[in-house]
Amino acid sequence: MNIFNSLGSNYNLSFALKALFAESKKENKVILREYLESKYKGEVYLVYKGREALRLALKLCDLKGSTVGICGFTCYAVYEAIAKEGYNVEYIDIEKDSLNFSAETLKRHIKENRDLKIVFIQNTLGYPCDILEISKVCKENNIILLEDLAHSVGSRYSNGSEAGTVGDLVMLSFSQDKIVDNVSGGALVIRNQVTKKFGTDMKAVDSKQKIKDRIYPLMTYKIRKLYGFFFGKILHRILKTFNFLSRPMEYIGQQDIHDLPVEYCREIYSQFLRLDKNIDHRKKIAEIYKKNIDKRLLYDKVCNLIDKSSNLRFPIFVEDRDSLVSYLRNEKIFLSDIWYDAPVAPRKYMEKTEYKKGSCPNSERVSKNILNLPTHRNISIKDAELLSRKINIWLQSL
Ligand SMILES: Cc1ncc(COP(=O)(O)O)c(C=O)c1O
Repeated sequence: MNIFNSLGSNYNLSFALKALFAESKKENKVILREYLESKYKGEVYLVYKGREALRLALKLCDLKGSTVGICGFTCYAVYEAIAKEGYNVEYIDIEKDSLNFSAETLKRHIKENRDLKIVFIQNTLGYPCDILEISKVCKENNIILLEDLAHSVGSRYSNGSEAGTVGDLVMLSFSQDKIVDNVSGGALVIRNQVTKKFGTDMKAVDSKQKIKDRIYPLMTYKIRKLYGFFFGKILHRILKTFNFLSRPMEYIGQQDIHDLPVEYCREIYSQFLRLDKNIDHRKKIAEIYKKNIDKRLLYDKVCNLIDKSSNLRFPIFVEDRDSLVSYLRNEKIFLSDIWYDAPVAPRKYMEKTEYKKGSCPNSERVSKNILNLPTHRNISIKDAELLSRKINIWLQSL
């Protein structure tokens, strides 16, 4: 049995075939937009990637030259979206033994930087931040709050309200390995009238890129099935070399903002209809990890949020991560895709950012130690128990 936490791990064969033959019915886009408008109570723009929704949000805010505060433990796509729109980035460090920043730390940044006009919160891996306090601080300081739900569609905050129902703006991602995963897709929800209207037309997604997205679930399904053998790795290498696989960080026409293709909409909508089932499953799997894995590898602050989290991935924290990754690889468990392996990840992109070493010490420490365990629908209770056992065996062998 092969276990993955990426490479199309959300998909099964039936999904792969559906994606291959997805139909382009215009009404599916209307249905999706209306559904999201009613769920998140705002005006919705459907785009090709979450990062494009972030760019659109910043365009509409019309505050170019000012600063956006973001989590100091994040994805390069977030940094890039802000930089592309001509804003400055301020990294806000996460709390010790947690995955999000606090309202107190945000307050300090606001005091020190009068240019800070917009804040993105992130609910990393689905574990909710203290949105009630953060939103109070933003209101008191006239700061626009954007909820980035790339990890946290379906998460709930401490007062029970669903993620995406608090901020002025909401960003959704339907890209690879997310809770709602259709290879690619994104949306911006404008909940408060803090922005100007969008005037320019969006571009159409390149047809080669759409073909790559269509075949991605089937190709990755085959790779994952065959990975324990020579063929899977070879197939993976060939498809990567010839650039046939959709990549999370690079795509055709990356400089533009694109309209979400109609053929992507039906599947995204049906995944929203099945969201509760998806979240229930992930919660069950996260609880198994929490119960079975040696407590030395867990953060209480994270485990206490399982009940409220979308549990996109379950984090454990180890000193010698490389050794655990390679031990698990020998057991046919492939977990080398780490969110996040650097304060602005992936690590190889760090030098393109203006992140100053030492500015977010908690994020630096966590990014060195974190490993994400999969909770997706292809992980059974038995898989989670087995994975927990293997991790404990590795720990005892040290
Ligand atoms: C926190 C966060 N926001 C935004 C994004 C970008 O989403 P997308 O890949 O849909 O552009 C990512 C990427 O994974 C992310 O981790």
